[in-house]
Amino acid sequence: MAKLIDGKKISLEVREEIARQVEELQQQGVTPGLTAILVGDDPASMVYVRSKEKACAKAGMTSNVIRLSADVSQQGLEAVVDEQNARDDVHGILVQLPLPDHLDEQRIINRILPAKDVDGFHPQSIGNLLLEQPGFIPATPFGIMELFKRNGITTRGKQVVIVGRSHIVGKPMAALLMQKGEQGDATVTVCHSRTGNLAEVIRGADILIAAIGRPEMIRGDMVKPGAVVIDVGINRVEDATRKRGYRLVGDVAFNEVEPLASAITPVPGGVGPMTIAMLLKNTLQAARMLEAK
Ligand code: GUN
Repeated sequence: MAKLIDGKKISLEVREEIARQVEELQQQGVTPGLTAILVGDDPASMVYVRSKEKACAKAGMTSNVIRLSADVSQQGLEAVVDEQNARDDVHGILVQLPLPDHLDEQRIINRILPAKDVDGFHPQSIGNLLLEQPGFIPATPFGIMELFKRNGITTRGKQVVIVGRSHIVGKPMAALLMQKGEQGDATVTVCHSRTGNLAEVIRGADILIAAIGRPEMIRGDMVKPGAVVIDVGINRVEDATRKRGYRLVGDVAFNEVEPLASAITPVPGGVGPMTIAMLLKNTLQAARMLEAK
């Protein structure tokens, strides 16, 4: 039986710590402010943005959600980003992804002032991360590092296999884990849809991080007994027995993998809540840095 890594509980601890630090900052007359830009009406994105908004309010931060129609133009969206860049009361800006196909995602992200890039997706943030310089770390990998820290899971010298090479999770996760130092020092393998012998590579993992977005793709026979399993997937699968018509499952077949892992994150209640907590942490950092000038 695996130890359950309780992301919900840990995220609440992190959020309480942040709330206390926000209070201190407020005594100096600064309230951290986050703007989230949501384009269109993707149901999952709407839920995520709503959660971020609520978490900001609970931490004592100001949040502002800008909802734009799915047919907004590239220029129109860039103008909205420019406006937020110029506002002194906005310390963090995020554009909820994915964007509709007609928009150039990277060009939009490039438009965000690096000092306000609390998602850590700007080329400058990614560059700093790779070069092991201070900067914003994308919230999901940052949250996973925090789960390791607060559960006494060490990565030094371990074989870590990341499944998924996305800019949001896989790539920055690999960069963090191969960094020099106690929090990194792992041997990292990144797998993706074109990886041959996928099951074999995954079976070599001391720590497995699944971030593919495919419901329950990682089966029990693919996991080494005693491995630590981090499930980043949040997949909606149809379920007529649920009132809302679907349930959430991870990228890992939990019932098969849990009995043989040493520790595992559940879905929901694992990595997901940590992502929001670390976004708040980045927003607090942005406010501190911008106001220190
Ligand atoms: N879509 C999925 N994850 C994220 C995230 O962390 N930030 C943004 N902006 N969009 C996302």
